[in-house]
Amino acid sequence: MLIRESVPLAPHTTIGLGGPARYFCEIRTEEDVREALALARERNLPLQILGGGSNVVFADAGFPGLVAKMSIGEMAFEPGRGNAVEMTAGAGVDWDEVVAAAVECGLSGIECLSGIPGTVGGTPIQNVGAYGQEIADTLIEVDCLDRAGMMRVTFDREACRFGYRTSRFKKADRDRYVVFAVRLRLRRDVRPVLRYPELAAAVGRRGGIEQGDPPAAVRLVRETVRELRKAKSMLLDPSDPNTRSVGSFFMNPVIPERAFRELVNGWHASGGRGDPPGYPDGGNVKVPAAWLVENAGFGKGYRRGGVGTSSHHALALVNYGGTTGELLALAQDIERLVLERFGIRLEREAVVIPG
Ligand code: EPU
Repeated sequence: MLIRESVPLAPHTTIGLGGPARYFCEIRTEEDVREALALARERNLPLQILGGGSNVVFADAGFPGLVAKMSIGEMAFEPGRGNAVEMTAGAGVDWDEVVAAAVECGLSGIECLSGIPGTVGGTPIQNVGAYGQEIADTLIEVDCLDRAGMMRVTFDREACRFGYRTSRFKKADRDRYVVFAVRLRLRRDVRPVLRYPELAAAVGRRGGIEQGDPPAAVRLVRETVRELRKAKSMLLDPSDPNTRSVGSFFMNPVIPERAFRELVNGWHASGGRGDPPGYPDGGNVKVPAAWLVENAGFGKGYRRGGVGTSSHHALALVNYGGTTGELLALAQDIERLVLERFGIRLEREAVVIPG
């Protein structure tokens, strides 16, 4: 395994920020994972695993240890019970290639997760989700290496402790395991279920999914999701400067109904027009962080120095040629103003890695 020195990290991230890694290597096999871990331990270096770089922001100073880019890349399908098909994908495979391969085979279960940037390994860590689906819905198992004892461990879905944009890998066991493969249970001959009103309406406009066979329905959903994401600059596109982001920078806060009523009342009392949006979420209410960001004074296309918000979606903070310092200063101001104005503490979805 080749170890390089002083490798710029910005090109390995979708937001294009961050200084160099002191050491950098590419992991192509489970053996490489062990080698990288051993090297980091031997030289007493911090180790950072990097996937597609679509949810991470490195410091301007770079990373003082070893960055190991996950490139384990294989995909396999196996027949399961009934109409199930089990798909195994290596952590380094591009996530959208996985979705495309499943959809091409007419398999349903992940079509709403089309067009999400990043690689497979990151998907169970933050329980990637969009348009009414999340990886927890189809995941069977995650194969990992325990960094502590260098042992192989497999977690089933329950053991992953999934929640909204979270799992044991993000919380209690942060940085303990290296994910090297994910196994999903997909279905053949099943029409997708459309749970997200915006998606259901857009699919309806394109003829709906009731006509035609299930594989055609799965294809239509994928195309529609990609179109919706493109319209919000949430589909990577070098010609669209809005896509130099990590997608949603913050999570959508989930607050008690009482707090939501207070938000609505406070909004009206201050002369706000219309109602703040909110979606029922297991007895609580999920409030779009994008709405909070916009109405705290950071509308779509807000610019400050080299950073700002996307002109198509206020939740995406964009690098317009700035620095991590500028981006984090903006994030802090947004957090402060949302708290002051609405009494809601935003939680970051993006992972910020200190230098
Ligand atoms: N909205 C605004 N301003 C905006 C954009 C949206 O006020 O600039 C409000 C509107 O009320 C809109 C609502 O937010 O109806 C929801 O917007 P959207 O459908 O775009 O979804 P989101 O809640 O902002 C979440 C995920 C996205 C995912 C979409 C679609 C989080 C943090 N984000 O965004 O995930 O693609 O739903 O399912 O849960 C990501 O994680 O990086 C990501 C892009």
